[in-house]
Amino acid sequence: MEPVNIGICGLGTVGGGTFDVLNRNAKEITRRAGREIRVSHIGSRSPKTDYDLQQVCVLADVFDVATAPEVDIVVELIGGCDVALDLILTAIEQGKHVVTANKALIAEHGNEIFAAAQEKGVMVAFEAAVAGGIPIIKTIREGLTANKIDWLAGIINGTGNFILTEMREKGRPFIDVLAEAQELGYAEADPTFDVEGIDAAHKLTILASIAFGIPLQFEKVYTEGISHISAQDILFAEELGYRIKHLGIAKRVPEGIELRVHPTLVPERLLLANVNGVMNAIMVHGDAVGPTLYYGAGAGGEATASAVVADIVDVVRTLTIDSDDRVPHLAFKSDCLSDVRIMPIESVVTSYYLRMEVLDQPGVMANVARILSELDISIEAIIQKEPQIKGSEVAIILLTRNVEESKMNEAIAEIESLDSTLGDIVKIRAESLIN
Ligand code: HSE
Repeated sequence: MEPVNIGICGLGTVGGGTFDVLNRNAKEITRRAGREIRVSHIGSRSPKTDYDLQQVCVLADVFDVATAPEVDIVVELIGGCDVALDLILTAIEQGKHVVTANKALIAEHGNEIFAAAQEKGVMVAFEAAVAGGIPIIKTIREGLTANKIDWLAGIINGTGNFILTEMREKGRPFIDVLAEAQELGYAEADPTFDVEGIDAAHKLTILASIAFGIPLQFEKVYTEGISHISAQDILFAEELGYRIKHLGIAKRVPEGIELRVHPTLVPERLLLANVNGVMNAIMVHGDAVGPTLYYGAGAGGEATASAVVADIVDVVRTLTIDSDDRVPHLAFKSDCLSDVRIMPIESVVTSYYLRMEVLDQPGVMANVARILSELDISIEAIIQKEPQIKGSEVAIILLTRNVEESKMNEAIAEIESLDSTLGDIVKIRAESLIN
């Protein structure tokens, strides 16, 4: 059989990793795909000289790769949403299949891209867009296809996990660890995407769509970052038996679907709580299989290339299959997507970690307890620390039982209005992740 020609657009960390893996494992990959997969074109303005590109047509303009008649599959690894969107739509228009690692592009423009691809009968594969080398898209879309997915919760940003891990294990300040993550190349070009949860929200958007069969709705994800998490909250959480993780959570509830990214207290006995450094992990709970967990490198050239190459092989295997018989882009047939409601954060029901600084005087705790009790909020655990100076201020840490967020906010506002409460109360959601 004729080889399949690949055009790689972008020869950065992931593009270079993909080129290397395709070359290094060429024999193994051919045995798996049933056909030789050959990098015929590369689109790069300044390809590094350490690659052997003698057999490859190198073009400075990526659009020339997308329109080259010999190219069968366009691999978009340039990132961003502007040029990348035009490039992918051009490739689709030319009847070419597309593989991409671009999470922002799929989360924000995937509905349009998949509609165009379906019209043209081509595939757009995006395994590398979520959690780097962990095959989580294929797992949910195919491996768990028998299940009604109840929820998924994941550490899907390595930079954020690295920061929280270093803060907990070494007591390092947030800002120092972020600088190191940038130096090590884990962080996005704009690191606020990592620490403010935008990168995780992109990935969660994609996971939720394939888990629940809903359109991509990035704008509806509730997103909260980790920049306000302090070393003392990490320590207090630990005293309560929890770790703080930056989770993306998508959950089916009777009224709709919750989509949220926020720091979360997770029981320390859970495997997920012990995923450290830049590693990613995703728990998926299906009604038939129960809880499952997927762990691995969420970033890095070759780890991400592992997913890119798997997508290329997948596309090659299905080249001869009628487009209607292929696995749908978002796991469910495009005319079977559901417009179920995405729940506002105020209606989420969970438990809460609260830390408040209060005056060290009689009756303060009683007032806090009264406010919670009047709103029917039950306390699961409580810690009060010795004041630095007797009679001055003291920290009270509470863990509540499950309560609706709107009610929790009402209680917090009331407690903050007491003369004995100093400053704002820190609120961090907690999840048991049991069933
Ligand atoms: N900045 C991302 C992370 C890279 O830290 O996880 C992988 O998407």
